[in-house]
Amino acid sequence: MLRTIPHNQRLNEVRYDIRGPLHARALELEQQGRSIVRLNIGNPGRFGFEAPAHVRQAIADHLRDSEAYCHQQGLVEAREAIAQVHRQRGVAADLQQVYVGNGVSELIDLSLRGLLNSGDEVLVPAPDYPLWTAAVILNDGQPVHYPCPPERQGLPDPDEIERLITPRTRALVVINPNNPNGAVYPLALLRAIAAIAERHRLVVFSDEIYEGLLYDDAQFHPMAPLVQGTLCMTMSGLSKMHRACGYRVGWMTATGRVTAAREYLKSLDLLAALRLCSNVQGQWAIPAALLGPDTHTALCRPGGRLYETRAALLRTVARSRFLSVVAPQGAMYGFVGIDEGQLAEFDDQQFALDLLERKQILIVPGSSFNVPYRNHFRITLLPEAALMERVIVAIDEFIAAIAAGGRRAVA
Ligand SMILES: Cc1ncc(COP(=O)(O)O)c(C=O)c1O
Repeated sequence: MLRTIPHNQRLNEVRYDIRGPLHARALELEQQGRSIVRLNIGNPGRFGFEAPAHVRQAIADHLRDSEAYCHQQGLVEAREAIAQVHRQRGVAADLQQVYVGNGVSELIDLSLRGLLNSGDEVLVPAPDYPLWTAAVILNDGQPVHYPCPPERQGLPDPDEIERLITPRTRALVVINPNNPNGAVYPLALLRAIAAIAERHRLVVFSDEIYEGLLYDDAQFHPMAPLVQGTLCMTMSGLSKMHRACGYRVGWMTATGRVTAAREYLKSLDLLAALRLCSNVQGQWAIPAALLGPDTHTALCRPGGRLYETRAALLRTVARSRFLSVVAPQGAMYGFVGIDEGQLAEFDDQQFALDLLERKQILIVPGSSFNVPYRNHFRITLLPEAALMERVIVAIDEFIAAIAAGGRRAVA
């Protein structure tokens, strides 16, 4: 008799719909010759964006120097550049506090693995970039979501966060600017969150991978300068602002009360050593990206690709009877709400599947980002403005057809 191979049961609690069953179905449809408009993932290289030439050149220039493993925490040159950025912000940091990884993704997992014991709780925003929730679960922790609802422009309420703290709470995750809802946290809010973390001795994980992608008057404030009484782990990388997802380069820096975190930091060093090092060639791009010219701000200003596509999203949604969106202040996504009052038994996952099958448009259902409501979807701002406009009009017409005739009308 054929015995099936069991798997890690905790994976049953984990979802990553950005590349989940909908994405798999899109690939199937493409294999059948259908053309799919894929707006599910923030992958700039797939939309005609390129890494800055000087960043690419830095890798080419050092290819011959990339053949050996490097220090487990990363190349000295790369870590020094990262520490320097922190020092420019008035934060004490040297290269020993920096860890380079194969994308922020690897560091999210590694940093939680080094921290959590079974049943430890981690406060995570809802909506979140779902790897945070997944990595807490896979490292035997318990995610506790704090709400960042559209009614509050996607921002959390510090009192609400504090009420969720229990004796098991170990850490607090902030994603600023937020993926998926584009919220950019005001300074006063960050200060309040930092004070909560200090009061309860929580580790702050501040995921700032979209820090430079800001619209209108939005201002980004790094978390590290605000945290002194506890440990702050700041994360960033090359994937978004520097449009180089495929290089797989991210970093994190431990600042604040590092003296109280010696054992934790030693465990991170061990975990980093167990995977030897992160890919070396990509690390040469870090000094060039951080200390070279700014190539991202213009994308978010009038005439820039992200700015114009965001404007097209806001314009088209404003004309819709069914759609609404809190204008994203940062990052590269729209988190669009659907007024399901006019739609019987609306379900965002089923809606996304129907949209894919009928209109060949791939979006990500809102509930994939760990929110309790099921009337949102996320769309990336990476396509050209004209395509965004066409897609939102098509989605609006699709919803109108559902409203007129029920789901069967479109199935
Ligand atoms: C908020 C956030 N953090 C981390 C990541 C992971 O980025 P990477 O592993 O490419 O550095 C992403 C990717 O979309 C993200 O949106």
